[in-house]
Amino acid sequence: MTRAISLHDVSKSYTRGVRVVDRLSLDIEPGEFLVLLGPSGCGKSTVLRMIAGLEEIDEGELLLDGEYANDLLPADRQMAMVFQNFALYPSMTSRDNIGFPLRIESPGADPRPRVDATARMLGIEDLLDRFPAQLSGGERQRVAMGRAIARHPAAFLMDEPLSNLDAKLRNHLRAEISGLTRKLGVTTVYVTHDQAEAMSLGDRVAVLRGGVLQQVGTPRSVYALPRNVFIAAFIGTPRINLLRGVVRAPLDGAMTISLGKQYLRLPEPLCLDHQLLRVQQGREVIVGLRSEAIRIAKPAAARPGEVHITGLVEHVEFQGHEVLVHFNTGSRPALVPELEAPRPAARPTRRRRREGGTVLNRLRERAGALRAGPVVALDDPADTGSEQAPPEGRLPGDLIVRTTPDIELRHGMHVPLLVDLAHLFVFDQHGDRICPAPDRLPDLEE
Ligand SMILES: Nc1ncnc2c1ncn2[C@@H]1O[C@H](COP(=O)(O)OP(=O)(O)OP(=O)(O)O)[C@@H](O)[C@H]1O
Ligand SMILES: [Mg+2]
Repeated sequence: MTRAISLHDVSKSYTRGVRVVDRLSLDIEPGEFLVLLGPSGCGKSTVLRMIAGLEEIDEGELLLDGEYANDLLPADRQMAMVFQNFALYPSMTSRDNIGFPLRIESPGADPRPRVDATARMLGIEDLLDRFPAQLSGGERQRVAMGRAIARHPAAFLMDEPLSNLDAKLRNHLRAEISGLTRKLGVTTVYVTHDQAEAMSLGDRVAVLRGGVLQQVGTPRSVYALPRNVFIAAFIGTPRINLLRGVVRAPLDGAMTISLGKQYLRLPEPLCLDHQLLRVQQGREVIVGLRSEAIRIAKPAAARPGEVHITGLVEHVEFQGHEVLVHFNTGSRPALVPELEAPRPAARPTRRRRREGGTVLNRLRERAGALRAGPVVALDDPADTGSEQAPPEGRLPGDLIVRTTPDIELRHGMHVPLLVDLAHLFVFDQHGDRICPAPDRLPDLEE
């Protein structure tokens, strides 16, 4: 039997007044593979531990197969957990490690048939007589999986089970876990902070930020229709380009989004999504362009819906099968504070020095904004003059474009770019998506 898991308005605090999980509601179907995704500290493990019964639920309800389960003992939930550091008993062979929970569950029964069947399924028959110290990391993780599977649980709860392994083994075991859980048809909740892992494994992905559920959907739908700028930036490689822009809608001309020195002219007649930008006139917005929305080509080659801008090559990242080109387009990037890598502190510009703005002050403001919650992105909210050079101290280029290795580009070249406005994302000052329309149904859902 496989298990439906529902959380209704579930909250958890370790310190009074600080919710690490905040009114989380989520329905997981029987047999579904749901991935809980989010940056470190967002509450993923806490959610998993509440489902397992290892952590008390402060508020809200957990339902298992529709029955109230907040107070159910962990042993009565029939769930098997697999952790990042799955502690196998060092003094037991793999066979005994896998059989141990079976012996606890039914002391009189012979665990061997189940252990053997599980080992066959995982291809670890040869490892059954070895001790953990005689196994590689990947083999140990397989034995740990075996221990979880052998019990025939009603659900698997996996907390970053692959993060200690090297990339190759991780990919391999990822495919194995996916195949195995589907074959067994067991409901699985899988925690990871790795978006690529989440996208490749999940039937659906639930994105958490600061204990608050941001979006739940198929990997396709969260990628194509991210509800806010945080999700857009968190999901997808290379990271979506986020630029600060201003919507301009002159009475006599076409509507544009100014990006510093250049602008995107929206094709007339405006499509329904672009019409939503009318009310943003004169306001700062965040423009999101995934790398597939931009290609290197002359203006003459533009297809309907594509507009032309120019980029100055700042850095070329050769990746073998493709090349990532970092362009400076004279626009300024919008940042998502909790997703930024630490970067060198910016030297204060003359204007900032005059105004007495120190780097420390700006960092404090940014940290304050982050704690306050909804603010997502603007790099320096006080600084609205867009018609100037990009800020110092950030990574090179404000626009990353993916291209094939046969195009030879060098630092300092001016290159024509075509932007496909059918793939344009626009977010408001709070980071919420304006375009495509927020209520647009994910028509990509299977
Ligand atoms: N036992 C505890 N006592 C106090 N605070 C805790 C406890 N366990 C977790 N926390 C805090 O709760 C928040 C969520 O923790 P949790 O372990 O659920 O995060 P996570 O998303 O799993 O992070 P990671 O990806 O780093 O594993 C964190 O701020 C953490 O410091
Ligand atoms: Mg964790």
